[in-house]
Amino acid sequence: MRERLKIGIIGCGAMGQGHLQIWEQIQEAQIVAVCDEYLLSAKQTGEKLGVPHFTRVQEMLGAGILDAVDICTPSGLHGDQALLAAHANCHILCEKPLDLNIEKVDRLLSLCQQRALTLACVLQQRTTRTVQIVHDAIVSGKFGRLLSGSASVKWWRSQEYYDSSAWRGTWAYDGGVLANQAIHTLDLLCHFMGRVEEVEFAHIETASHTMEAEDNALAVLRFENGARGVVEATTCSYPDLCARVEIVGTEGSVAFDSTKVVRFGYGGQERMDTLEGNTGEVGGGRVNPMSISLQGHLLIMEDFVEAIRDKRPPLIGGEEARISLDALTKIYRKARPDLVLGL
Ligand SMILES: NC(=O)c1ccc[n+]([C@@H]2O[C@H](COP(=O)([O-])OP(=O)(O)OC[C@H]3O[C@@H](n4cnc5c(N)ncnc54)[C@H](O)[C@@H]3O)[C@@H](O)[C@H]2O)c1
Repeated sequence: MRERLKIGIIGCGAMGQGHLQIWEQIQEAQIVAVCDEYLLSAKQTGEKLGVPHFTRVQEMLGAGILDAVDICTPSGLHGDQALLAAHANCHILCEKPLDLNIEKVDRLLSLCQQRALTLACVLQQRTTRTVQIVHDAIVSGKFGRLLSGSASVKWWRSQEYYDSSAWRGTWAYDGGVLANQAIHTLDLLCHFMGRVEEVEFAHIETASHTMEAEDNALAVLRFENGARGVVEATTCSYPDLCARVEIVGTEGSVAFDSTKVVRFGYGGQERMDTLEGNTGEVGGGRVNPMSISLQGHLLIMEDFVEAIRDKRPPLIGGEEARISLDALTKIYRKARPDLVLGL
């Protein structure tokens, strides 16, 4: 029997607990240590699993018992913790976004490349079969020339949500609706449309919550392929509406409601019947961040283990995850050139 991948989880909060449940289902990996700066959380989680607990990442890494880390801490900490892990020669699975500071992510990418370490990011909406079918149709030219792509996230978050942890809604640790909630939809948009060359217009504001970062955003993009794009994101929408991605080419178009396709066709024909398993999650996360399916997480985590074992790139590696982070950074910089994002 192959040796199991030894993983240390960093951050035992809401997402960390979700990841721990998933790791239990993956035979080829085992959690061997847990870390949370909040001692009680680290201790309770470690005792439940029967593994050592730590409150400092450096101490967990220094114990020399890990092959990989799984980072589930506030977003602004991801890059620094991943860099520590890479310096300790550990592979890295990281919750979205990779970090808020793109320069730090660039340092991480080059360190991982130098050391042949696997870096994967949990952008799980990309993993569905329908997303893959639509992506294949677009990249194989069935949509003709891409004209426009839009991403719209109109969700609701209460003030209690932002008040529930000190890091939420801060520029240093979270960012606003674009960085936290809309990053998945922005990632899907870039997956289909390619890299953003320029943000032509961007507006961000904190409209109806007491928080530092934005809860309402609008941007107009130009992609490298010359197509235009629109991003609208808000957590002010009560009742919550949708997360939608729409792509229009000269020969085809598609509309997603979350990861479920609601319209798809090219070459003059509707093609909904070609979409196997178009049962995507609609409405996940609209009001409650934990009301999401963890199926995509399972696929990404299984793939992470296999990618390390087979020495191949993971499904969504660091370079891929950087594409939507770059779009996000360009939007923020256009809207607020003075803004300092991340740590
Ligand atoms: N992929 C998804 O769909 C999805 C959904 C929800 C959250 N997330 C991401 O997961 C991450 C965590 O979110 P959450 O909702 O679990 O937050 P949370 O506040 O519930 O948990 C964060 C945990 O990190 C711990 N922590 C903080 N600083 C630390 C440090 N320096 N060292 C070790 N532990 C530290 C906290 O004590 C807490 O237990 C965020 O980056 C968020 O964007 C992803």
